[in-house]
Amino acid sequence: CNDSQSSLSVNCLDRHVHTAPNKVALIWEKDEPGKEVRVTYRELLELTCRLGNTLKRQGVKRGDRVTIYMPPCPLAVASMLACARIGAVHTVVFAGFSSEALADRIRDGKRLLQTDRGGKVIELKQTVDQAVRACPLVKRVLVSMRTEQKVPMSELHEMMKEDVCCEPAVMESEDLLFLLYTSGSTGKPKGLVHSQAGYLLYTAITHKYVFDYHDGDIFGCVADIGWITGHSYVVYGPLCNGGTTVLFESTPVYPNPVERLRINQFYGAPTAIRLLLRYGDEWVKRYDRSSLKTLGSVGEPINTEAWEWYFNVVGDARCPVVDTWWQTETGGICISPRPSSPGDEILPGMAMRPFFGISPALLDDKGNILTQNNVSGALCISQAWPGMARTIYNDHKRFLETYLMPYPGFFFTGDGAYRTSQGYYQLTGRLDDVINVSGHRLGTAELEDIVHRAVAESAVIGFPHEIKGEGAYVFIVLKKGTDVSQERLSNELKELVSKKIHGGSPFPTRLPKTRSGKIMRRVLKKIVEDKADELGDLTTLDDHEAVEEIIEGHKRLL
Ligand code: WT7
Repeated sequence: CNDSQSSLSVNCLDRHVHTAPNKVALIWEKDEPGKEVRVTYRELLELTCRLGNTLKRQGVKRGDRVTIYMPPCPLAVASMLACARIGAVHTVVFAGFSSEALADRIRDGKRLLQTDRGGKVIELKQTVDQAVRACPLVKRVLVSMRTEQKVPMSELHEMMKEDVCCEPAVMESEDLLFLLYTSGSTGKPKGLVHSQAGYLLYTAITHKYVFDYHDGDIFGCVADIGWITGHSYVVYGPLCNGGTTVLFESTPVYPNPVERLRINQFYGAPTAIRLLLRYGDEWVKRYDRSSLKTLGSVGEPINTEAWEWYFNVVGDARCPVVDTWWQTETGGICISPRPSSPGDEILPGMAMRPFFGISPALLDDKGNILTQNNVSGALCISQAWPGMARTIYNDHKRFLETYLMPYPGFFFTGDGAYRTSQGYYQLTGRLDDVINVSGHRLGTAELEDIVHRAVAESAVIGFPHEIKGEGAYVFIVLKKGTDVSQERLSNELKELVSKKIHGGSPFPTRLPKTRSGKIMRRVLKKIVEDKADELGDLTTLDDHEAVEEIIEGHKRLL
């Protein structure tokens, strides 16, 4: 290899097989507690190679896109690494997504891998069949059997006959590694592109310094591999560092993997912490937590109460809590305390410090840089860093428009932040219409796209939710002449958007809009937060009665 070339799978596997072949790479914490499965680096390399050879046999070539639709399991991790090994580009789709969402995410793809979920049996295969019907470019579907249930296909079983050696493809540092779809406030989800060397370097170094990871530690990140947190801190960061990483098949709702697996760093979303907090301290204190060294929080703001409980009860006031701010776009953690630097103070509920090489800037509405402390502004990053997404797949224009053009010369994160008098950063929430339910980005546009015979128009906004951080609230305008009962419609619509949506009826006849026809979501937001007397500037509002009607409707709902 020359300087700009590397092999990611060699960095994550072969290197460690040379030094410690029998070290455990993955602990698969299945939905059946106590039945965890350990996979060593040697075994993971073999599985990866077999899969790499299987993919090649199926005709997958360097640069081809492979969609992986599997819950966290060793085969899913090996599938990601197998793509990297042969130079293919992976797209992991969260296994909780519907066939429609899956289809939206594989339209650019060519091939597909999937498995069925254990514990709770969810028929992923049916979802895949439905999605693939809408994607003519898909050439082949490979299925793995997670359960004994009969599923009408099982090609991945053939894989065990493949050779355990698979020559790693030598990649240029800027070659594509993966696409990961994330929601925006408008349009279809965007496939963010991450590339090879910079991404791997950034995940490995942040994993080491933010969590104060040391050789021999057991790293437990509760995130699905379908999200960026799973990519960076379940798979790539820990494996590049030769660590042992825990794969949670789903969020643990039973006590207590920390004690059983002797987890040293625990990383999860505030939603789970807020949920646990409600059950009282007993449930936590009953289990041995002496293995814990660092506690991490990710995906959404952590309120002070949850932070204090995490620190005092879960960590016995002994483990630093790191509130880590980052995004799918940033590849890895950008703002966070760093316990690896001893002596640095850590304050509750604050991401605080930019990571090495990250230079944040706060800008005002007019694009001026705010240089002083004790100010709020749009959070931007003023120079490139190794882990940043390179583009949106097939839509570089959208990438430029979303991230680089709003504040020329800066990368715009979409978040607002406050810089304290001491110069620490505290995130204040999204500046756009993206909402964050339980640490997951929910695209308002995707939800507003509800196709139902009775719906003329809809608007989705976020509102504060005690456990989930934010809930999604939908306003629906019915088509004229709809004569179905409100209750029945309400049920049908809730069914359609499943559990993602809160509230809803009564249905207004129209939505408040500007004269140019844009829905005024900030007005809807205030009404839902019961702040109808603080609607702000309404000079651009087209039809004041629309607002009156919604305020009345909301009062009736309370
Ligand atoms: C958005 C990114 C970070 C990986 C998981 C989510 C919000 C993320 C924090 C935090 C306050 C946070 C931001 C960000 N967010 N971490 N520590 N404090 N807000 O990745 O789905 O790309 O969402 O999540 O609004 O922009 P994502």
